[in-house]
This record gives sequence, structure tokens and C-alpha cells, in this order.
Amino acid sequence: MAKPKVSFRGVSKRYGAQLALDDLDLDIQTGEFVSLLGPSGSGKSTTLNLLAGLIHPDGGEIRIDDRIVNTLTPDRRNIAMVFQSYALYPHMTVRENLAFPLRARHRRRSESEITVAIERVAPGLGLQELLHRYPKELSGGQQQRVALGRAMIRDPSVLLLDEPLSNLDVRLRIQMRRDIKALHERVGATTIYVTHDQSEALGLSDRIAVFRSGKLQQYGPPDEIYERPVNTFVANFVGERGMNFLDASLGRDPAGLALAAPGLRLALSSTEAGSTAAVTLGVRAEGIRPPRDGEAADVWGQVEQIELAGPDKILIVTLAGGQEVQCRTDAMLPIRRGEPVALVLERARLRLFDTETGRALACAFAGEAEK
Ligand SMILES: Nc1ncnc2c1ncn2[C@@H]1O[C@H](COP(=O)(O)OP(=O)(O)OP(=O)(O)O)[C@@H](O)[C@H]1O
Ligand SMILES: [Mg+2]
Repeated sequence: MAKPKVSFRGVSKRYGAQLALDDLDLDIQTGEFVSLLGPSGSGKSTTLNLLAGLIHPDGGEIRIDDRIVNTLTPDRRNIAMVFQSYALYPHMTVRENLAFPLRARHRRRSESEITVAIERVAPGLGLQELLHRYPKELSGGQQQRVALGRAMIRDPSVLLLDEPLSNLDVRLRIQMRRDIKALHERVGATTIYVTHDQSEALGLSDRIAVFRSGKLQQYGPPDEIYERPVNTFVANFVGERGMNFLDASLGRDPAGLALAAPGLRLALSSTEAGSTAAVTLGVRAEGIRPPRDGEAADVWGQVEQIELAGPDKILIVTLAGGQEVQCRTDAMLPIRRGEPVALVLERARLRLFDTETGRALACAFAGEAEK
């Protein structure tokens, strides 16, 4: 693999007794779009601020283009950052706001160079018509685009975005999300995007780094994070509804190794868990559904609630043993509250976790390869 554009090696940052970032290892390739995802206080902004040079690590190495930048000042790193509050200069027009970074003392550009740069950046962001307006004459989304344009105008080697959409309403967020994605595809700048919105991270990223309490939990492409979370924290944090978890136990009966929960028995061909361990079975709402023609049911339950979710219906079902699951089914399925329902668990979508540590366990259900 090519050398990474950005790399963190054993990077830690403390604020007094608070360990904000704990021994981070992370590689980001040239042109990649990487999201840093995690709950509030998990170390996302700390990671970004360290890379931008706004704060310094207590230990470890940060490299950009293979050069250690630990002690370089922000303006020597060729990085541009858009903050959560994307303050524009209120007394300057859009054009002047965009031009501002090019007028900085050490990189003074000529007026014609500035015009060329603005003409290069403005169309992609839909700003041509707005160049003469002042920030107060713009909508939130337009202001946001100016802030993005201002960050991009210097052709930064790395673009850092810290929750850039958090001030916008839902529709505008979705629109801006598309704009950012399109912009990235066109310009191809290495982009690191901080968000605590898992759907944003899933929709935008080449890879997602999931953080919890200053520790990187998992780093991988969206489908891997979604389908194969390394622990119950990631499984629960990522996905519109989190994952269903069922308490279960492993045992060996005459028919072989099996996973058991009340009303449910699933044959296993292998697992790394000890044969008596308490385990947690994880399955997303789309991996548990009513049987299709002729399929045998794995478990029965009672429909407690039905929620319409676009083209789908979410059934909240209490299983035989009293555990509750959410199942995604076709909105046309004729089923009512209070009715019994048969359910199939899709083997390829089942995950096993160690109940005590939350760590994912390798396993294979009968009829599939180990995952
Ligand atoms: N300047 C600071 N002084 C003291 N503690 C800080 C400082 N900045 C961050 N922290 C602490 O470090 C931890 C990580 O903070 P960070 O800002 O990186 O979180 P975050 O993931 O960006 O959260 P959010 O989603 O709320 O922005 C938190 O516990 C936070 O309170
Ligand atoms: Mg933050």
C-alpha cells in the first residue's frame, strides 16, 4: 500500500487528569475521506486539533506526507480547517472572505491570482452569484459553503472539518452532505470529517474511525463498521437503530454445538468462545424478519408495536423469553399489534459477542463460513 498521507503513531493527549486521546494509531491515505465518529467527549476534536497543530501531543508521532509535524506551527502544515462555528468575517463580502487566506502576509498573492482562485472554487460551491453579498445576507447553508470555500482556496494538502453541519437544519444538512461528498469527489483533497452523527459518517466516508473515551475502537470502511462491529459499543453506536442484542448461552447437545436463548436454538459449526460462556447474540433489524415462502421459523414472538419507516415497517417484538427485538419488514406486510409472529434470523447477519467484555467473537453458524 502507498505511504499514508497522514499518520498517527502512539499519539496521546492529556488535559490534567483527563486522558483525551489514548495511544492513537491511525493511517489516512492520500485523497481519502475519513470520518472520526464517536459520542461527545470521545476525542474527535482533540485528534483534529492535534493534526492541525492547534494543540501538541504528550507522546507519539504525527506525520503528514511522511514528515513528523509534532512541533510545526499550524501555518507550516498546509492544512485547512472548518470549525463547528464557521465564523465568517461579517464586514467582508463573500469574495473578500474567500480571498482572505490568500492575502495573509507570508503568501501574498496578486489580485489576478486571487481572482483565478476564486473562479476555481466558487462555481463548485454555487457561490458565483453571491460573491458581493455580506454574510448576514446569506442563509446558513450558503454561509457554510463560503466557510468551505475559504478552507479550500489555498489548495490545502489536508482538509479538516469539525462538525461543519451541526448548525444547520435537517434538510440543509442532507443537502450540504451531498455537496461535501461531490466536492470531495471533484477535488479529491484528503479530508477528515468529525461527526457524532453515524448516518453522516456512513454516507460520506471511505473509512470511519470510531472513538470512545479517547480510544479508537475500530477503523474501516462503512460496511465493515456496520456489518462487522468489533464490539457491542460500535454495534450499538452505528446504525440508525443500533443492533438488537439477545442474551444467549453456548452449549453442546446431542445434535452438536448450539447457541440457545428462550425459544431459540441455532446450530453452530464453530466459535472461538468457550463452550459454556455467556454470550450476546447481535442482529440488526434487517437480519431478523418473517419467513419467506416455505422457510422454517427460528423463533416466535408477539408484535408489541409497529412503526412505519419509509418503505419499511419496524416491528417491535417480544420473543418467547421476554427479550425485545426490532425487526425490519416490508410496509405492505399484513400484520397487526398483539399478533404472534414467526421470525427468521439470517445466519450471515448474526454476530456473537462476549457478554462480559463486549468483544466480538469469531463464529460460524451451520451452513456458513466463519466470520
Ligand atoms: N481545553 C481542554 N481542557 C480540558 N479538557 C479538555 C479540553 N479539550 C477537551 N478536553 C476533554 O478531552 C476529552 C475529549 O474532548 P474532545 O473535544 O476531543 O471530544 P469530542 O469527541 O470532540 O466531543 P464533542 O462531540 O462534544 O465535540 C473530553 O473529556 C474533554 O472534556
Ligand atoms: Mg468536538
